[in-house]
Amino acid sequence: MSNKIWGGRFREKPDAIVDQFNASIHFDQRLYAQDIEGSMAHCRMLAKQGIITEEESSSILQALDEIKGEMDQGEFVFDETREDIHSLVEQELVERIGTVGEKLHTGRSRNDQVSLDVRLYVRDAIDRVILLIRDVQNALVDSAERNGEFILPGYTHLQRAQPVLLAHHLLAYYEMMKRDGRRFQENRKRVNVLPLGSAALAGSTFDLDRHAVARELGFAELSGNSMDAVSDRDFVLEFIFNASLLMMHLSRLGEELVIWSSHEFGFVTLPDALSTGSSIMPQKKNPDLPELIRGKTGRVYGHLMGLLTTMKGLPLAYNKDLQEDKEALFDTVDTVVQCLMVTTRLLKEVTFNEKAMADAAKEGYLAATDLADYLVSRGLTFRKAHETVGKMVLSAMEQGKELHQLTLEALQAASPEIGEDVFQWLDPAECVKRRELPGGTGPGAVRKQLEKAREELGS
Ligand code: ARG
Repeated sequence: MSNKIWGGRFREKPDAIVDQFNASIHFDQRLYAQDIEGSMAHCRMLAKQGIITEEESSSILQALDEIKGEMDQGEFVFDETREDIHSLVEQELVERIGTVGEKLHTGRSRNDQVSLDVRLYVRDAIDRVILLIRDVQNALVDSAERNGEFILPGYTHLQRAQPVLLAHHLLAYYEMMKRDGRRFQENRKRVNVLPLGSAALAGSTFDLDRHAVARELGFAELSGNSMDAVSDRDFVLEFIFNASLLMMHLSRLGEELVIWSSHEFGFVTLPDALSTGSSIMPQKKNPDLPELIRGKTGRVYGHLMGLLTTMKGLPLAYNKDLQEDKEALFDTVDTVVQCLMVTTRLLKEVTFNEKAMADAAKEGYLAATDLADYLVSRGLTFRKAHETVGKMVLSAMEQGKELHQLTLEALQAASPEIGEDVFQWLDPAECVKRRELPGGTGPGAVRKQLEKAREELGS
């Protein structure tokens, strides 16, 4: 038997270089389960519509089930001289049940078939990614609760800015993950559209029941245009874009774990079990895992740019360029799944060092904004208060002191409006407590955010 499902109009066999260059079986074998699931639904519908007989249908279904069973068990040897997963399954079917198997492809093209397979694959991937995002969210919320009281410097420009609760800092990532999860939910709606019935590009002459196939495969809608359906990969691009944004968030969190675990910060200690050593420097304990999350973000962005570029010049409808979507997609899924799992482990197992964070929050004039706000409460305009506190900071710096280390007299010399109660405004814990607006770092506001997060997660 020839290793092609086409060939009638050719006088010569394809050159070996065609087989090598054209084949996708070495990567699209990953779609075998989706391919067979789609074929089974198509086959049942062909029988119901009287296009093939019930007998033919059951012999096709039985053989497909057998093939899938062997593939699931890892017993099936994928012959890499085949062209792609679609032709491989069809040829295997014909080898097992003879010419009846040749009826399966009635009213179908690999063009609508591959789109179907990829949609089924992306739909599963989205469901998996959404669950893994939830794991990260749960780990963030658990950690925020466990370390609820810890105070650390909040930074802008990586310069100490104002004190914040660690819980608040962690919940910032909760919000990012929430948006990411929702983006994938949205994406799922556009994935969940049945392309089958579009055939090669123009639709089919057979009386196919597209609604029945959609129902069986759980698709919410039918594609509205056969030419669009076979050439659209927006849903893949959208998935890779969503994955890129998710990776960007994981990368930022990874970066914080890297700098926070440095000797210079010391805010966090990674467990030995999730760290690595150096081949030469015996003392080293390195944060390879968060570094790799940061590093792997680049390849996902690369896939996004790669596929956008692949798509941009394609005339309607199907073009072989579209085969280039799969490796980008598979690698994106693998990368995102791994990075989400590693992030959850890291969040569950790192130790936050309360003292190092608290000490850092006491140094660097983090209460300066609060002192300016205090002066406003004493009647100064904010601009005047800003100027006055700036001068106080400069003078404190010259004396090698923090604001809370200045005497009341020294403070009053800068601004006679200052009273004894000023010291309450200079304590990091007080600075935090004063920020109870919704969305702020005040303990009450953060508790509300935590409760809301718990409610959203149902945990
Ligand atoms: N391997 C192909 C792909 O991934 C399947 C569709 C082939 N269709 C065709 N007309 N050659 O896109």
